[in-house]
Amino acid sequence: MRFSRCLLGKIARWNGDHQNSTVYRCKEGNRRMTDAPLFSDASASGYVIDAENAAEMARLIVQDRLITQAMGGLFPEPMKITQVHHLLDIACGPGGWLLDVVKHYPHIQGVGIDISQLMIDYATSLVQTQRISNAQFRVMDATQPLQFPDQAFDLVNGRILTGFLSTTQWPHLLQECWRITRPGGSIRLTEPEYGFTNSAALDTLTGMAAEALRRAHHSFSPHGRTFGTTPMLRFLLSQAGYDSIQQQAHVIDYSAGTPLHQSNTQNLLVVYQLLQPFLVQMHVASAEEVHVLYEQMSTEVRRPEFCGLDYYLTVGGSKPQ
Ligand SMILES: C[S@@+](CC[C@H](N)C(=O)[O-])C[C@H]1O[C@@H](n2cnc3c(N)ncnc32)[C@H](O)[C@@H]1O
Repeated sequence: MRFSRCLLGKIARWNGDHQNSTVYRCKEGNRRMTDAPLFSDASASGYVIDAENAAEMARLIVQDRLITQAMGGLFPEPMKITQVHHLLDIACGPGGWLLDVVKHYPHIQGVGIDISQLMIDYATSLVQTQRISNAQFRVMDATQPLQFPDQAFDLVNGRILTGFLSTTQWPHLLQECWRITRPGGSIRLTEPEYGFTNSAALDTLTGMAAEALRRAHHSFSPHGRTFGTTPMLRFLLSQAGYDSIQQQAHVIDYSAGTPLHQSNTQNLLVVYQLLQPFLVQMHVASAEEVHVLYEQMSTEVRRPEFCGLDYYLTVGGSKPQ
């Protein structure tokens, strides 16, 4: 698939200036924007947002940059990167993280997989236009057996898988990761946790998202008060057979006046636009209630006194020799 200059231009403009953008209010060709029903498609892959939505792809491009920046780099934790030659990124989205890795570490051969044809086509177009020879992207469903031979990778990476993995699918995916990792290789997973803010509307929406994730069986939280994956990661890796498990927490301060305020509020405005069908379908609120909260949240996050923190946990483990 080729990307029209118009679509790429709109994504670039949207990334730079969300508030004046028209990207997620318009239609172009067969690319569905947010004014179309979303969750009917999304539920087919298990993902809570439509993975073939261009606005979602544009959001992920922004989110990738801000998470990597806030975490302090591509591998903020101790990592024997010279020993990594073959790297898999699961649910790579538009490929930003993997492409940064292979550019910084040219000895690495990177493979990115994602269920979305749109994301994979976009990442592949970047590989081609930037003449990157050490990365490739493939459409693959990570809830199914992975189409790679045993012991094919030195490192398997996954960031923000909670959105599509159910609690029962986590162990199956980690078994597959174990199978395709060479002895002595490693895995690293990064997942978000409930973020705290002084915006009443955003806090209510975050609570609704947590409860909707629980109802959709994507959350390990018993009462749906948190996103619920982060406390489980060490246990899940241990159950899969990994050892030398290490954890590192990251916080994103996107309060008003901070460097990440604009990009993370932009991210939130889009994510809660795109999540609305999921929240309604999980019966945590009516469409009207979610709409009113969204409008209130849009105002509150732009106030000069707005304070907000998002949390991520990276957990890494090794496959014994
Ligand atoms: C929140 S995004 C994370 C993207 C990327 N890992 C990052 O951190 O920037 C989740 C990604 O999972 C992909 N996805 C959803 N269901 C999937 C599945 N069953 N198998 C593989 N990828 C899937 C979506 O298309 C989307 O790109």
